[in-house]
Amino acid sequence: MSSSSAPLSPRGAEEDEEGAARTDGNGGTVFCYGEAGYWDARYVEEGGAPYDWYQRYAALRPFVRRFVPPASRLLMIGCGSALMSEDMVADGYREIINIDISSVLIEMMRKKYFDLPQLQYMQMDVRDMSKFSDESFDCAIDKGTLDSLMCGVEAPLSAAQMVLEVDRLLKPGGVFMLITYGDPSARIPHLNQPVCSWKIALYILPRPGFKGKARRSVFDPVPLTESGRLPDGFIPEDPDSHYIYVCKKVQGLTGIDSPIKNNLEMQDSESGVE
Ligand SMILES: C[S@@+](CC[C@H](N)C(=O)[O-])C[C@H]1O[C@@H](n2cnc3c(N)ncnc32)[C@H](O)[C@@H]1O
Repeated sequence: MSSSSAPLSPRGAEEDEEGAARTDGNGGTVFCYGEAGYWDARYVEEGGAPYDWYQRYAALRPFVRRFVPPASRLLMIGCGSALMSEDMVADGYREIINIDISSVLIEMMRKKYFDLPQLQYMQMDVRDMSKFSDESFDCAIDKGTLDSLMCGVEAPLSAAQMVLEVDRLLKPGGVFMLITYGDPSARIPHLNQPVCSWKIALYILPRPGFKGKARRSVFDPVPLTESGRLPDGFIPEDPDSHYIYVCKKVQGLTGIDSPIKNNLEMQDSESGVE
């Protein structure tokens, strides 16, 4: 087993969690965030206590409200014990299907939210969501789950499987909102799978509690270069920022030779993806 990414951490890169790392046979360190067993054990230990990775809904709300209409059929990928879905229901969202690889977690969430019909919980691996039919969701949100896969075995394969499944499930024009610690050099190559055609807008949000001075509005999308990188010289104020990739599934552009170029050309002319 090998780890191909920095360790996942709750609110940035400030901590390396106890119990998430172990040494492999070669003396290297590996992280277990890609393994169902790790998450089951963690949720048992935490007893289902709510925990939102990276950002709470209040901070993400302006982006979610802008790109995800409340009437959407929404897929929450790797929901964990986050309050995000509950907060979204309180904010008017009507149908959120939450999936997670941890059966322990799903049982806990089903009990917790038995009286909230807007929320459904299903145990599922994001790499194989064959229980859902093609083009059956308007939107999908991932906060921290692709990051988990990037810490597991065969990370690029897992990431590709996840992105292809999300693309399959979204209706044309649907939106995949990816909230991650991964900057474009680490995430755009995984988003741009050959058969996908995303129109991508990128936003960068400092971690909660960051005290630095903002040089730009977080609501302004950050342009990407042709090769899918941050512009030359662009350095986020907070080095532990979170990245929000708003990926719109563009109809009729699958199978093109250079999806990334196409995506970025479209993005250049607009401030968002609406
Ligand atoms: C970093 S946590 C994020 C939880 C939640 N989205 C949040 O924002 O707080 C990652 C979640 O992804 C789930 N997960 C990991 N691998 C998964 C997979 N292959 N399929 C579905 N869920 C997975 C874990 O069980 C965990 O709940």
